[in-house]
Amino acid sequence: MYRKTLTAILAAGLALSSGIPAEAGNHASNEQSDHALDNKVIKKIDSENMYQHIEVLSQQPREAGTDGEWQGVQYIKEQFESFGYKTEIQPFEFNKGFKRGTPSIILNGNDFAGDVHTFTGSINAEVEAPLVYVGLASEGEVGDEVAGKIALIERGEISFYDKIQNVLDKGAAGVIMFNREGTTGNQFGGIYEGQDIPAVAVTREAGLELVDRLATEEVIATVSVEGASYIKGTSHNVIAKKKPHPNKDNGQIVMVGAHHDSVSVGPGANDDASGVAAVLELARVMANTPTDTELRFATYGAEEKGLVGSYDYAYSLSDEEVQNIVGHFQLDMVGSRDAGELIMFTPNGEKNLVTDYGAAAGARVSETVPYGQLGRSDHVPFYERGIPAALFIHAPLEPWYHGPEDTIDKISKEKLQDVGEIVGAAVYQIARPDTPALEHANVAPGTVEYDFDDRPL
Ligand code: BES
Ligand code: ZN
Repeated sequence: MYRKTLTAILAAGLALSSGIPAEAGNHASNEQSDHALDNKVIKKIDSENMYQHIEVLSQQPREAGTDGEWQGVQYIKEQFESFGYKTEIQPFEFNKGFKRGTPSIILNGNDFAGDVHTFTGSINAEVEAPLVYVGLASEGEVGDEVAGKIALIERGEISFYDKIQNVLDKGAAGVIMFNREGTTGNQFGGIYEGQDIPAVAVTREAGLELVDRLATEEVIATVSVEGASYIKGTSHNVIAKKKPHPNKDNGQIVMVGAHHDSVSVGPGANDDASGVAAVLELARVMANTPTDTELRFATYGAEEKGLVGSYDYAYSLSDEEVQNIVGHFQLDMVGSRDAGELIMFTPNGEKNLVTDYGAAAGARVSETVPYGQLGRSDHVPFYERGIPAALFIHAPLEPWYHGPEDTIDKISKEKLQDVGEIVGAAVYQIARPDTPALEHANVAPGTVEYDFDDRPL
């Protein structure tokens, strides 16, 4: 219901900016008011603060489940609390590693001579069935004859997920995959949650031998995986909330998020200490700014392990909360001096409330921000729950991405300042007391035209 109201507001704003006659004088004064109100927030945003947060956070890697991540989590909580926020650290489990157990293959009663490798995520099971070769297991190659059989698949061209799903859709009971052209080993392969068949990998050589053998005889195979399991780790989300002014509460919630974990090999100054720093600075600035909207500032753990923290948080929300969250602004990699310009990515490549407000705020602060299509960060789980969400990032990416050289010396204070101001202005436009009850307000959100950008990463 709230979301509908906002859509109506944006439509009204668009009508104003696209030359549809408005009441005399309205447009100009709206713009002026917007700028004046933006200034209440953006004049306070200080990239020096963000830079200092990055300095602290990027002293070591913050891989999920490690002490480095935990120290980051504590720092973030202390910062939120120093601004006066009620702050929660929420633990959750993630898959830290995989114990491969004992995989085996039997062919027509004889143990397979070569080395067998368990696919990451394979279930434990033993299946015996005729072996059938399905090439690369693209959709067109997999026929009904696979039902109840063990699929022999060549690696390459399409994802493991798609190959397994294609044979599963036809009722396969198990998978043996052999390596792609030009390879010698067999240490590869992953199967996903819900793909509940045993899956193992063999060398290309062994696989091609099997293909030949199938041309001359029937092969009954037993594929077995025993004692495999995920090794669990614990990571944490940090959530800081600011309730709206009690007399003005419109029931809406706006979220600003980043991920605080990094990859293991680098200190993640830009990925994503920069986003955390921006979240902290926006929280600081908003702490004493009256709003009619609840603000939630979140930093997620285990993003690099598959968006685990944000999935945990997004799916812990009640349906009512989901209804009330009008937008999620995700800040990931927002400070690299060596990356390109700011862009807003949505998982489906469509505009939404967040991109509308982000583009308009960009136009007021510096430049209109284009939008594009990409998942790969914590906006995805919110999008999947039906919440308007977008990833704010600079693209093309810097060469230091996910490497040991993602360090503070590559951070640009100008980039941090620009993103902080744009997202601050956008969030404040939603949260300030005179919006979105536009019908009764003297300020219209200025909207702008902004374009899809198919920019390379
Ligand atoms: N900051 C990146 C997201 C990203 C990477 C955006 C490249 C745009 C271009 C993020 O931390 C990341 O690395 N995500 C993972 C995805 C995840 C599901 C493990 C990735 O993209 O590999
Ligand atoms: Zn990231």
